[in-house]
Amino acid sequence: MNLFSPLKCGSLTLPNRVIMAPLTRARTPSTVPGKLQELYYKQRASAGLIITEATNISPTGTGYVYTPGIYSDEQEAGWKGVCEAIHAAGGRVAMQLWHVGRVSHELVQPNGAQPVAPSAIRGEGAQAFVEFEDGTAGRTPASTPRALETSEIGDIVADYRKAAIRAVRAGCDMVELHAANAYLLHQFMATGTNLRSDQYGGSVVNRARIVLEVVDAIGKAVGYERIGIRIAPFSEIFGLTDEESGEMALYLADQLSRRKVAYLHINEPDWQGKDIHLTPEFRKSVREAFDGALLYCGHYDAARAEALIADQLADAVAFGRPFIANPDLPERMRVSAPLNDSNPETYYGEGPLGYTDYPALIKA
Ligand code: PHB
Repeated sequence: MNLFSPLKCGSLTLPNRVIMAPLTRARTPSTVPGKLQELYYKQRASAGLIITEATNISPTGTGYVYTPGIYSDEQEAGWKGVCEAIHAAGGRVAMQLWHVGRVSHELVQPNGAQPVAPSAIRGEGAQAFVEFEDGTAGRTPASTPRALETSEIGDIVADYRKAAIRAVRAGCDMVELHAANAYLLHQFMATGTNLRSDQYGGSVVNRARIVLEVVDAIGKAVGYERIGIRIAPFSEIFGLTDEESGEMALYLADQLSRRKVAYLHINEPDWQGKDIHLTPEFRKSVREAFDGALLYCGHYDAARAEALIADQLADAVAFGRPFIANPDLPERMRVSAPLNDSNPETYYGEGPLGYTDYPALIKA
């Protein structure tokens, strides 16, 4: 078993285990992906699976301007073009479904409303990406959110469901539920961000409830085999703290395994340079709890990814920054070719610069 062995994932067979991680690129001012996005994703179609940039399921779920959505007909049509381009180039794609919860700001919210979250606690160090009054864009500290009423949660579950239906109608092979990185679903799961006293707060079972309601709503609408889910156990970003991160991850892994979702994608706690690492025991417990395809993402290179797969602790590994700079990353890894470096200054940006202009080994 190595990075180039095929992998069954839901009803797909991925031709390799080099997965393109979700990457926010903030190049969609209209929220509708177009020709530029088609080219960017098409260039990366040799990934075992492309996971799209995080895509907003609703205006309220948005915390970053210039990111795409999947809640309007125009957006769905835009994604249809992207999916067709990926498929025509031989690829497969999962759309990442995003609700940022408290990682937002009044400037990004409809009618300047307060962002919503499980509890009214501001994310210390959390940054939204906004357009200021002078028309420039930049990061700014997230606003204090208001706590969702219990009666509003069903609407959020419905927004996920509708977004998943649109994604599949647009041609996505799968959807990935973004339950990581201190955004809404993670805020519900973590003890430090969820102080609720209703059925969505308190125990592990209660804090995971919204996640499983979303999984079930999407599973019933488009099939559980089309669902992947991304979590970030032990990750401390955007002021999120969690006393029961490990228990939550293992509970979810077991519940998701019973539902036969296609894959579980774990973003490792060191991804933003923090010196926090998953233990081998935790990795083994996750492996035992979850029967579907298991993906990890962090600071991997080909050798470390191969080792994790050889140890049977992962089925595939997702690469972010390397995929930004190397559209043909699987082929480069296969032949041990040197990698282009990515330029952080153009992770977000405008147009093709630092987006579609990284060279492949062989010119298309
Ligand atoms: C980001 O753009 O900084 C970002 C987006 C989505 C994530 C994490 C970070 O999950």
